[in-house]
Amino acid sequence: MERILTKDIGQYEGKEVELKGWVDVRRDHGKLIFIDLRDRTGIAQVVFLPNNKEVKEIAETLRSEWVIRVKGVVGNRPQGMINEKIPSGAHEVAATELEVITQAKTPPFDIQSDGKEIGEDIRMKYRYLDLRRPRMQKNMRMRAKINQYIRDFLSARDFAEIETPYISKSTPEGARDYLVPSRVYEGKFYALPQSPQQYKQLLMVAGIERYFQIVRCFRDEDTRGDRQPEFTQLDIEMSFPTQEEILSLIEDLYVGIMKDLYPEKHITQVPFPRIPYKDAMEKYNSDKPDLRKDKNDPNELAFTFIVDFPAFEWKETEKRWDAVHHPFTKPKVSHVADFNEKFAKSPGDILAEQYDLALNGFEIAGGSIRIHDSELLARVFEVMGNKQEDIQAKFGHMLEAFEYGVPPHGGIASGLDRAVAILQNEPNIREVIAFAKTGDGRDLMMDSPSDVTDEQLKELHIAVVKKQKQG
Ligand code: AMO
Repeated sequence: MERILTKDIGQYEGKEVELKGWVDVRRDHGKLIFIDLRDRTGIAQVVFLPNNKEVKEIAETLRSEWVIRVKGVVGNRPQGMINEKIPSGAHEVAATELEVITQAKTPPFDIQSDGKEIGEDIRMKYRYLDLRRPRMQKNMRMRAKINQYIRDFLSARDFAEIETPYISKSTPEGARDYLVPSRVYEGKFYALPQSPQQYKQLLMVAGIERYFQIVRCFRDEDTRGDRQPEFTQLDIEMSFPTQEEILSLIEDLYVGIMKDLYPEKHITQVPFPRIPYKDAMEKYNSDKPDLRKDKNDPNELAFTFIVDFPAFEWKETEKRWDAVHHPFTKPKVSHVADFNEKFAKSPGDILAEQYDLALNGFEIAGGSIRIHDSELLARVFEVMGNKQEDIQAKFGHMLEAFEYGVPPHGGIASGLDRAVAILQNEPNIREVIAFAKTGDGRDLMMDSPSDVTDEQLKELHIAVVKKQKQG
C-alpha cells in the first residue's frame, strides 16, 4: 500500500489508507487513544479503538516525535469534533495497524508553539527540531516558493541563471573577506566573494546580456538582525539597460510575488516612489525611509526606490575618497575629462547612476549602471587612492576585458533573507534561514568555527599564533 499525506485523507472516506510521520501529540481517553500524526502537509487525527487490543497496546507507548507508520480506515469525525482550521479536520483514521519506526527522546523544547518564547541558543543547537515547528516550516516553504517564482519570472524574460565561483578573489563591497588558504600555492589565498559583482560584469562582456543567480555572498562583518556573514542575493545584470528598465524589472518582480504569494498584503504605492537620495535625507533623514501609512499594519508593504546617490564619500579614517556603492558604479559624467574637472572641483557633489530599494525601512536591494569605459574605471580606482601597480594586480583583468568590446551594462542585487523576513512578518533574518549563525557568528549545531588538526594546518602552510594570556 502506498503512503498518503495527511491533508488528503478526506479523499479516502471509507477506505483503508497508510500514513507515515511523527507523533505530534497523544491524548489518552481511557477507552480511546487519539494521536495527531504530523507530516509535511500538516496533521491528521488517528484514533485507536479498544476492539483492536494489540494495536491499542502499542499506541499506549507512543510519545511525541516518534516516527510511525499507521494503517487505518478513514471516517467522518463526529459532529462537533470537526476542526475547520486544518485540511484533514472533518475526518479521522481508525487505526488497524501501527508500527513504531523510530523512537525519540523528549525534545529540549516545545515544538508545537511558535518558539518565540524559547532562548535562541537552544533553538540553534537543535535547529533540526526547531525547524519542525509550523511557523518555521511555513517560512522555509514560502521562501522556496519565492525562489521558484523568481526563477519562473526571470526565465520567462530571457534571463539565464549562471553559477559563479565561490572560491575566488577579493572583490570590493566594503566588508572584510573570508579567506581560504591554498594548499597547492604556498602562502596564497582565495577569497569567498562578497558578491559576484565582477563575474556578472564579465558575463556581460561574454555576451550573456541577461544574467541572474540566487547566490550566497560572504562578508566577514558583525552579525545583526538583518545581517549574516553568509547571506543570499538575487543577483541580476543586464546589457544595454536604462536605469528605469532595471527598476521596473525589480518592481514588477516584487509586485508579482505579492499578488501570487501574499494576496493578503497591500502595497502602499505602485509604481514604487523614486526618491532622490538628497530629498530622502532632507525629508526623512534616512536613505531607507519607512513610508508605511500605518506602521502597526503587518500587511502593509511600502517599497521605495532611492536614486541619485553621491558617487563618492570621504573616509576620514583612511583619508581618502571611497565609492559609496562600489568602484564599478558609473558617476554621472560624460567622459574622463569631464570626470577630472568635476572631481577636482567637488568630489562629493558627483552623483552616481546608483539606486537602492527600501521596504518598510530596510534596504532590500542595491545596484547601479556600471562604468564600461576602461579609462574612466582606471581613473576612479586611482582617485580612490589605489596605486597603479595595485590597480593592475587587483583589477587588471577587468580593465583588460573591457578592451575587447564591452556592452554598456548595469544591474541590481536584492537581499533575499531580508525581503523574505519582512514578507513573513519575522523580526530578523535568522527566522528565514534554515541554518543561521548566532549573533556572535557561530553555528551552535555544528559547533563551528572549530579547531583543525596540526596536519591540516601544515598542509596549508599556516601557523596559528595564539594570543599570550595576560598575566
Ligand atoms: P549590496 O552590497 O548593496 O550590493 O548588497 C545587495 C543587498 O544585499 C543585502 N545584504 C545583506 N543581507 C544580509 N546580510 C548581509 N550581511 C548583507 N549585506 C548586504 C542587502 C543589500 O541591499 N554587487 C552589489 C549589487 C550590484 O551593484 O548589482 C551588491 O552586493 O539587502
